[in-house]
Amino acid sequence: KKGNYEHYMEKEIFEQPESLTTTMRGRLIRGGESKLKSVVLGGLKDHLRTMRRSRRIIFIGCGTSYNAALAARPIIEELSGVPVTMELASDLLDRQGPIYREDTAVFVSQSGETADTLQALEYANSHGALCVGITNTVGSAIARGTHCGVHINAGCEIGVASTKAYTSQIAVMTMLALALGDDSMSSRNRREEIVDGLFDLPNKVKEVLKLDKDMKELAKLLTEEQSLLIFGRGYNYATALEGALKVKEVALMHSEGILAGEMKHGPLALVDETLPIIVIATRDATFRQALRPCFLLLTYSRSYALIPDSKQQSVIQQLRARKGRLIVICTKGDAEAVCPYGVSRVIEVPRVEDCLQPVINIVPLQLLAYHLTVLRGYNVDQPRNLAKSVTTQ
Ligand code: UD1
Ligand code: F6R
Repeated sequence: KKGNYEHYMEKEIFEQPESLTTTMRGRLIRGGESKLKSVVLGGLKDHLRTMRRSRRIIFIGCGTSYNAALAARPIIEELSGVPVTMELASDLLDRQGPIYREDTAVFVSQSGETADTLQALEYANSHGALCVGITNTVGSAIARGTHCGVHINAGCEIGVASTKAYTSQIAVMTMLALALGDDSMSSRNRREEIVDGLFDLPNKVKEVLKLDKDMKELAKLLTEEQSLLIFGRGYNYATALEGALKVKEVALMHSEGILAGEMKHGPLALVDETLPIIVIATRDATFRQALRPCFLLLTYSRSYALIPDSKQQSVIQQLRARKGRLIVICTKGDAEAVCPYGVSRVIEVPRVEDCLQPVINIVPLQLLAYHLTVLRGYNVDQPRNLAKSVTTQ
């Protein structure tokens, strides 16, 4: 049932306003005279105390599910105060990394059947950790094998490339952060703003989906390329990794997501006038503008001008200085500020609460991967060599 869509991947990308609404249904509390704006996660309420007291929270997953946890990591650390570590399931198993009774291990999986994640669950369980599932499939092995958890309720995902499950996983993990931070007065305003942001998120996703035509145009420009780099940092390091994963798995084009803070430690050597590079530079703590005094020679009067004072803007400037072919994803209205020297292309996305920005920012990259695949003539819904559910190791 693809309806008006050519492919399931396209349908599932466009379904995200609805899938996010279902994910959040019944779980957000609007607040009122005496009530705080907050969240209710039925499956976790009896375990939140244990999670808050744990020595660390370990997120475990593969592929897109791992990336979703990486996107949510900063807000979980901020609101819970508990150290968060990340594990790719296969790597944890290869290392037989230490896990303790005082740990909370969170298993993120769309299918709930991924062999590595399932085996990591058995491993963490045998070491006495509290095991929490974040799954899309009710009754799946991971949902059954965890002590408690949250169903993301994104609806059935058919395209092999995960799209709507990714955004719903981030929404659920943001709600998990809110639930863990629920006992703190100092973060109350911050939490209420995030709840408001979650209520409005489906509308903002509708808005960003309007970029479809622009992304198709961009895909046309990039169809023949061999490689595409994507730079992100902070909340959007995960967006860079996830965007690159989509491009390589469906469009069969080499793509690499790079932490912008690592640029000078190697990747900068790749930059020349031919290689296309996407830079994610939406507003958050890594993108700010400061008012700085500047002196006008003619009048000798002091006035103020907007001068870039952000880590991501300086990344853009350094890439420009090496003649990089830049495509910048920025917040609506920031195009000029972001590219004082003009870049090849700017994609403006709506602004949301910083920790929710990864949900918005991945959408143009999902669309880009989709159109690139169609233009390059590859199978969108069943990329070669891949299976929807990886049940063997
Ligand atoms: C539950 C019902 C939902 C109903 C709602 C009404 C189910 C599956 N969900 O949703 O239909 O509308 O109450 O209040 O019947 N769990 C795990 N591991 C996982 C995922 C979930 O152990 O990976 C457990 C949870 O701890 C919980 C149960 O499964 O005990 C259901 O989880 P979830 O569907 O997220 O709970 P509710 O949102 O409360
Ligand atoms: C990428 C993709 C895979 C899965 C990974 C984990 O689009 O779909 O990387 O995310 O195989 O699968 P789940 O989430 O089912 O455990």
